[in-house]
Amino acid sequence: MQRSPIGTLPTVATATAAGLHEATVAGFVDAIRVLKKMIFVVIHDRTGRLQVTIERSPSDQPASALEATVLSLTVGSAVRVRGTVALNPAVKTGGIELLALALEVASLAEPGLPVDEHSSSDLQLDWRFLALRRSENLLVFEVQTTIERAMREYWATHSFIELHSPKLMHSASESGADTFATRYFELGTAYLAQSPQFYKQMAIASGFERVFEIAPVFRAEPSMTPRHAAEFTSVDVELAWVESHEDVMRMEEEWLREVLAAVRADHGDAIARQFGVEVRVPALPFPRLTMREAHAMLSAEGHEIAKETKPGDLDPAGERLLARWALEEHGSEFLFLTEYPSTLRPFYHMRDEHDASVTRSFDLMWKGIEITTGAQREHRLAELTRQAEQAGLRDSVSYYLDFFRYGCPPHGGFGLGLARLVMLMLGLPSIREATFLHRGPNRLTP
Ligand code: 4AD
Ligand code: MG
Repeated sequence: MQRSPIGTLPTVATATAAGLHEATVAGFVDAIRVLKKMIFVVIHDRTGRLQVTIERSPSDQPASALEATVLSLTVGSAVRVRGTVALNPAVKTGGIELLALALEVASLAEPGLPVDEHSSSDLQLDWRFLALRRSENLLVFEVQTTIERAMREYWATHSFIELHSPKLMHSASESGADTFATRYFELGTAYLAQSPQFYKQMAIASGFERVFEIAPVFRAEPSMTPRHAAEFTSVDVELAWVESHEDVMRMEEEWLREVLAAVRADHGDAIARQFGVEVRVPALPFPRLTMREAHAMLSAEGHEIAKETKPGDLDPAGERLLARWALEEHGSEFLFLTEYPSTLRPFYHMRDEHDASVTRSFDLMWKGIEITTGAQREHRLAELTRQAEQAGLRDSVSYYLDFFRYGCPPHGGFGLGLARLVMLMLGLPSIREATFLHRGPNRLTP
């Protein structure tokens, strides 16, 4: 990877590839090896590793200033080195070394880094900034950047408008449960947004037609699974004038195909090398199963849904079986599960016109894990009010119900957890590794 020339220094990659005679390269110290006649210092920046070689003064003479500086170096220190670029096939860092002429310590690290790649994942999260210096962790965020760029490219091509909706809210935005509350001036209590759901629907009532938002959302779930965070980045989309949730699903699969194609093109090789997974560009359409079909299929397979599962829902093992079916029967890592029971869905999901116990909704599963929930929304005031009432939310969401009082197009949309997408794309053990800084029940620092 080549960096654009914002800075004045060549990167390790450009200095070594350009065949520069003399170069100044900056980075972190990875290793220091002191021999009798030489000192080898390996430094790295985002583009790679480079060996810096320092010749020592004969033992009967005082050390040069350069040598003295290098002898006081510690692993992790941030340094700038000027030197002569030399080809040397014996050097492990690409057969190139920098014969140091000068070395400036921008910041000396304390001796003994508290964490390395063998440390427990919790310790790595404690010292996240150090863990993030490793190339595989940098790749996670380079990939995430490409994901968001590709998402935005799709939205730009299709005339979507970007939203920045407030995260301080008068009421809960999803279910009423699992909200973080905070004091809010004279108005009493504010809740941290669990989703931009209400506001993206407001944008539809405002005539925006197609909107998206990438922003943090907050869930006070005491959940410690590898898929849950108390704060995560939600990717939200809402579309006006849909006929059904099927229109939303069609948009999402087309959009995701472009995102995966961009990641494969820009990082496919690096991902295969660092994580051993292939980024596959999916064929369309993704397979679809209604929840009724999914349950029938699982019981035909003899699968018993785990006891603690909410009635009508699937358990993780069942989801994995369905994922296997999608892969074996359709060659697809993706699977849409549709028409969830109303009891499992928020009040704003539109019900099936013939069967109110079923919603016009879907989840998108990738490799057996939910990455998206979406639906057509109830845009008819009377129905929506009734559903809010049944959920016991009518009063707290009266401002939301107002959005539907003066004309609102039929619409639908979805929310996707960015870290889940990254985790599954790279085969990471949890969303903690796919998030810059994780927030969970036991973690509020760094
Ligand atoms: O399924 P969820 O709760 O749906 C909504 O927020 C709706 N407003 C979406 C809609 O437009 N109908 O959240 C959407 C996605 C999930 O599919 C999952 O990928 C992710 O957000 N997600 C989480 N990611 C990390 N930690 C958590 N605690 C998450 N909860 C949901
Ligand atoms: Mg969901």
